[in-house]
Order: sequence, then C-alpha cells, then structure tokens
Amino acid sequence: MIIAPSLLAADFGRIAIEANRIERAQADCIHCDIMDGTFVPNISFGPAVVQSVNEVTKIPLDVHLMCCHPEILFTPFVKAGADILTVHVELGAKVESLLWKIRGLGKKVGLAINPPTSIDSVKPFLKSIDLLLIMTVNPGFGGQSFIHECVPKIQQAATWRKKLGLNFHIEVDGGITDETAAECAHAGADVFVSGTALLRHRQLKPAVTRMRRIVQSSLPCP
Ligand code: DX5
Ligand code: ZN
Repeated sequence: MIIAPSLLAADFGRIAIEANRIERAQADCIHCDIMDGTFVPNISFGPAVVQSVNEVTKIPLDVHLMCCHPEILFTPFVKAGADILTVHVELGAKVESLLWKIRGLGKKVGLAINPPTSIDSVKPFLKSIDLLLIMTVNPGFGGQSFIHECVPKIQQAATWRKKLGLNFHIEVDGGITDETAAECAHAGADVFVSGTALLRHRQLKPAVTRMRRIVQSSLPCP
C-alpha cells in the first residue's frame, strides 16, 4: 500500500518545506501534478520546482503529466529527479510511443485515465506499464469531490491484473479521503494520491499513518 500526498495541495510559498514535511510524515512517495493549461484548464508547476523538491527529499517522485505534449517534458523531469512518469491515455495514437520513450529513459511507466474514458482504452497497454492511474475526479484542480462511478473501473483493472498475471500498481487520484481510500482499496487500488484531505492536517504523520492503516484493513478478500 502506497500513500502519495499530492504537492498540488501544498503551500506553494513553502513547497520545499512542505515536501520535507511529507517525507518526515513517512509518506511513500510525493505525487507531482503537472498541468499545462491546455490538457486541463490550469497550470501548476514545472521541472524547476520538482528539482527543488528532489534536493530536499529522498522518497520517489511520482510525476503525473496532465499535458498535451508530455514528450517534450520527459527529459527535464528526469533531470529534475522524477522516478515515475505518467501520461494520459486520452492522448490517443501517440500513447504507445510515449510509454516506450519513458521506458527508454529508465523510469517507471504510468498510464492515466480520466473519469469519462472507458476502461477498455487502457487494456492494450497493461503489459507495458508499471502504474495505472485511475482519476477519481476530472483532472485540473485539487479539492474536488470523489466520483464514485469510477470505482467499477478500479475493479475491472484489478480483475485484468489478476487474470493476466500482471503486477502494475493501481493508483487513485482525486477526492481521496480515509473513507474513499477504503472504498478504492476494497476495489483493488494500492496507491493512494491525496492532497487536500492529507495536507490540511498540521500533524501530517498521524494522518498518513491513519490512511495507511485504513487501506490495509480494507484490502479485498484474496
Ligand atoms: C487533479 C489532481 C488532484 C490532486 C489531488 O488533477 O491530480 O487529484 O492530485 O487532489 P485532492 O485535493 O482531491 O486530493
Ligand atoms: Zn495527479
């Protein structure tokens, strides 16, 4: 079970301090939401910010590229310290080459899917990825409400993972609280991105520990 606080919910005026706080809270990795203002109607932060985070932390950096042309950002984010690079299946025909480019850079390969997109769209790529990111909000902003209609997609992905004997992680992102994390864990998710619900706590470590305990106890029956 991986708890991945999202930097999107951090105080951008103290982002390196916040990243350090996330690490000291014993989170497993830091989720970095990168937005280009075109794929989503928002702009967040770029490689320079991720670099500053990388300089003060040792835990993995999980970079979620909500970008129309992620290929131009792969090398800058790898240089900045990214460990996982995730692109969206909504990018269509170029997805396969994008995944191979990430693999070629020696980084973990992530594929993300938005709420309206059919889960069938990711099936051709399951053997090529390390992480399937199932968005549980429409991408672009933190603090949104969890979309429960996305839960069957988690179940379907977990079924395919088992049937095909694969071991990609299933990550959920958006509106993840203790309650929705439990629901997603029960459905088969094992990576939990949470921004608002975690970073609003002054004492982050107990909040991370509590979410980890809740998801552990919500695992689906084997
Ligand atoms: C949406 C972002 C958010 C963020 C977490 O594009 O990807 O989902 O990571 O947001 P909250 O605040 O809902 O945990
Ligand atoms: Zn994200």
